[in-house]
Amino acid sequence: MTAATKICEYQPGLEGIPATKSSISYVDGTKGIIEYRGIPLEQLAKKSSFLETAYLLIWGQLPNETQLEEFATEVRFHRRIKYRIRDMMKCFPETGHPMDALQTSAAALGLFYSRRALDDPEYIRKAVVRLIAKIPTMVAAFHQMHLGHDPIQPHDSLDYAANFLYMLTEKRPHALEAKIFDVCLTLHAEHTINTSTFSAMVTASTLTDPYAVVASAVGTLAGPLHGGANEEVLSMLEEIGLIDNVLPYVEECIAHKKKIMGFGHRVYKVKDPRAKILQELAQQLLNEKGCDKYYDLALELEKVVEDKLGVKGIYPNVDFYSGLVYRKLGIPRKLFTPIFAIARVAGWLAHWKEQLAVNRIFRPTQVYTGEHNAPYIPMAER
Ligand SMILES: CC(C)(COP(=O)(O)OP(=O)(O)OC[C@H]1O[C@@H](n2cnc3c(N)ncnc32)[C@H](O)[C@@H]1OP(=O)(O)O)[C@@H](O)C(=O)NCCC(=O)NCCS
Repeated sequence: MTAATKICEYQPGLEGIPATKSSISYVDGTKGIIEYRGIPLEQLAKKSSFLETAYLLIWGQLPNETQLEEFATEVRFHRRIKYRIRDMMKCFPETGHPMDALQTSAAALGLFYSRRALDDPEYIRKAVVRLIAKIPTMVAAFHQMHLGHDPIQPHDSLDYAANFLYMLTEKRPHALEAKIFDVCLTLHAEHTINTSTFSAMVTASTLTDPYAVVASAVGTLAGPLHGGANEEVLSMLEEIGLIDNVLPYVEECIAHKKKIMGFGHRVYKVKDPRAKILQELAQQLLNEKGCDKYYDLALELEKVVEDKLGVKGIYPNVDFYSGLVYRKLGIPRKLFTPIFAIARVAGWLAHWKEQLAVNRIFRPTQVYTGEHNAPYIPMAER
């Protein structure tokens, strides 16, 4: 097979087809390795913060103390959203999904900050700061409106993660809760060219504004095959209910070829390294806040699935323990996917910036399977 025919070979879902060159993150799914800019994610989870990691992803290197301080201060300063955006959100139906609200609000930022100066580093920086700063505020604001309340304003004395938790409850979170939530954001910040990132890159390649890029990625993340599996993990654990039901549940799923939520991954054929870290976080929260029967169920489920499906490379993925952690943090289930977006905006923006540096518009080809030269049938004869 020549190189030319190989390139033209159709692969459903573009599986295995490189769509870009990138130095942002690296995953080895057989060894269970994930690195951001070459740094193992385990190191970042232990030693970094979400904002420092976002800086690393977007600008390619760890910030020094001044750079981090400046970035964190700018983000803090830009957390508030314009009252006109808040008023627009008030017109959304409270029954709407928060991801739809987020996609609309992210796109609306483009109406207010519309200068499309993609070759101006200052414009790029401001757009990065605004999106990282305002997305959590928009998620929390819509959540409050959905409950029939007024949005809770960002609290200037709280850092990024603590402030988001505060905007959900108007209570200052415990330091451990804020720290754990910050680590969760770091773990979800980037994951090579996943579907929403690809969507961001395709949109970026048209040289549209970064708010449209992020809105497009949010819309892609909203689908149940991408974000959202952690919500389903909790529903599944509720359905299983008792430890004794775990084995029959798994056997039933296998017999009926039903997917067990939170297991399996296109890339990882071992336990997802992020799942390992999230499991440790869940354990820390349980030590602090008391046991949780769903955690015990999850441990049993992991054991049984490993026993039955480990040979196929089916192990817990990132979503298996994240829902349990969020539940213990008191975060409502409907916000799990928007939280994924709060974190992943760092990765989307890193890929946006990388795409701009070497841009060529994405315009793949297709394999046409329709007719040729078909007759136009007059209305009366159809
Ligand atoms: C993530 C996922 C979409 C990856 O899909 P994929 O790479 O296309 O893998 P496939 O769906 O082709 O599965 C390959 C095989 O493993 C099995 N498998 C994959 N995930 C499974 C799961 N969660 N439970 C049971 N079996 C599973 C499939 O039935 C299939 O078996 P077969 O070869 O005997 O038919 C898939 O594992 C899944 O749907 N998982 C559950 C949802 C989830 O947790 N999503 C979050 C991902 S981070």
